[in-house]
Amino acid sequence: MDASPAPFVPPAPKPRTAPPSFLEMIRIVYRNPLELWGEPSYNEPWISVGGVGGPLVVANDPGLIRHILVDNVRNYKMSVVRQKILRPILRDGLLTAEGEVWKRSRKAMAPVFTPRHIFGFAQPMLARTQAFADRYVSGSTVDVARDMTTLTYDILAETLFSGEIAAPPGTFERQIDRLFETMGRVDPLDLLRAPDWLPRITRIRGRKTMAYFRGIVADTIAMREERLKRDPDSAPQDFLTLLLKAEGPDGLTRGEIEDNIITFIGAGHETTARALGWTVYCLAQSPWERDKIEAEIDEVLAREPDPVKWLDAMPFTRAAFEEAMRLYPPAPSINRQPIEEDRYGDLVLREGATVLVMPWTVHRHRRLWDRPDAFMPSRFHPGNRDRIDRFQYLPFGAGPRICIGATFAMQEAVIALAVLLSRFRFDTVAETNPWPVQKLTTQPEGGLPMRVNARA
Ligand code: HEM
Repeated sequence: MDASPAPFVPPAPKPRTAPPSFLEMIRIVYRNPLELWGEPSYNEPWISVGGVGGPLVVANDPGLIRHILVDNVRNYKMSVVRQKILRPILRDGLLTAEGEVWKRSRKAMAPVFTPRHIFGFAQPMLARTQAFADRYVSGSTVDVARDMTTLTYDILAETLFSGEIAAPPGTFERQIDRLFETMGRVDPLDLLRAPDWLPRITRIRGRKTMAYFRGIVADTIAMREERLKRDPDSAPQDFLTLLLKAEGPDGLTRGEIEDNIITFIGAGHETTARALGWTVYCLAQSPWERDKIEAEIDEVLAREPDPVKWLDAMPFTRAAFEEAMRLYPPAPSINRQPIEEDRYGDLVLREGATVLVMPWTVHRHRRLWDRPDAFMPSRFHPGNRDRIDRFQYLPFGAGPRICIGATFAMQEAVIALAVLLSRFRFDTVAETNPWPVQKLTTQPEGGLPMRVNARA
């Protein structure tokens, strides 16, 4: 008999038993799209409806997902709504580029993300996390959600620019916050496919911030270029140097380098931060899991000082992080649009339909998972992991457009967890009452206030 306690079931909206009214739907989409989905979305292989903004398909079946993201990928482009939200900020960065621009950029950027370079980032990741952990005062209450964003931003800034930013300290961070707060929002007008000339109230404020922010990025690039010319050997081997090396007729243009720096900032720190926050929270609510992970981390740190090795050496820690990303996928929805009408079995995917491959519903699907809403890292333990279909667990997407930063993120997450959990224990307090809300990422509304105590 299994003697472990009943697993923790973390907060999530219950599947709706009746569809919302039109007005209610608009309100939910604006406030928290995770609350939109009904029983069928968590039980059926797919849903096909004639939505307000045209036909909508929710794809849950792993075979169908494979069809869309891999087998017939040529027939799918990024959905118009997603592009309307993201392109004004990220332009021709890899996340929002399409067609030939995407193909050329992805190829040019592959060398930037080789294991050799990612391993090279392990030490800065470690150093940043240690410096961050030094600031914690034992016995205090901290907002883990905010702190993880600070930490992953610190790590990203270090691996992007090695701290060489052409702006007064603090300015860049403030601008990023403002930019994504005002620009990266789902606007109800976009969902209704309203014409572009109708101003989006959610975005107007962002334009000035955007111009200022881009100016800082351009100056930072120019500053580095100068340094590379002056003394190429002393320049840091960070993302900026690597991207500048990818510049050229078959590689990236200067504008694309700028766009990709902004893309890395947009795609590469809040995502990891959210997953780290949810991991720490779920572990605090499952002390028996936390014990296992603390023991693993203590054992590995005692014998293996090289952080490059930790991801492989800590399968339980990695599993907890993967399970947190199952329950709270940082990117809750991957959106596509068929270029021409497509079929899968008896499902017709009409040209221009919105096709949602939602890690949020796939990861909680009643027919794909045992106890889908429970936090059970053992699903991802060695030996069990092979039973999970490649297309039923997609925190990083799949196919040619799979997250290019996945290895970076996994390495970063395990290093951050190893340092933080070896030194501190995080516990929930009376105010810890998070509610998952879909913005650009799956955020804990109410934050994650938690008590942090030094481990003896
Ligand atoms: C836990 C952390 C992360 C998660 C969950 C995540 C998730 C994703 C997902 C789901 C996609 C595919 C989107 C689609 O198909 O529409 C994606 C793409 C992408 N991600 Fe990540 N990501 C993470 C971290 C990172 C990091 C650290 C970076 C960069 C340093 C990054 C950069 C990108 C880029 C550039 C793309 C676009 C790839 C392409 O279209 O070719 N991500 N990410």
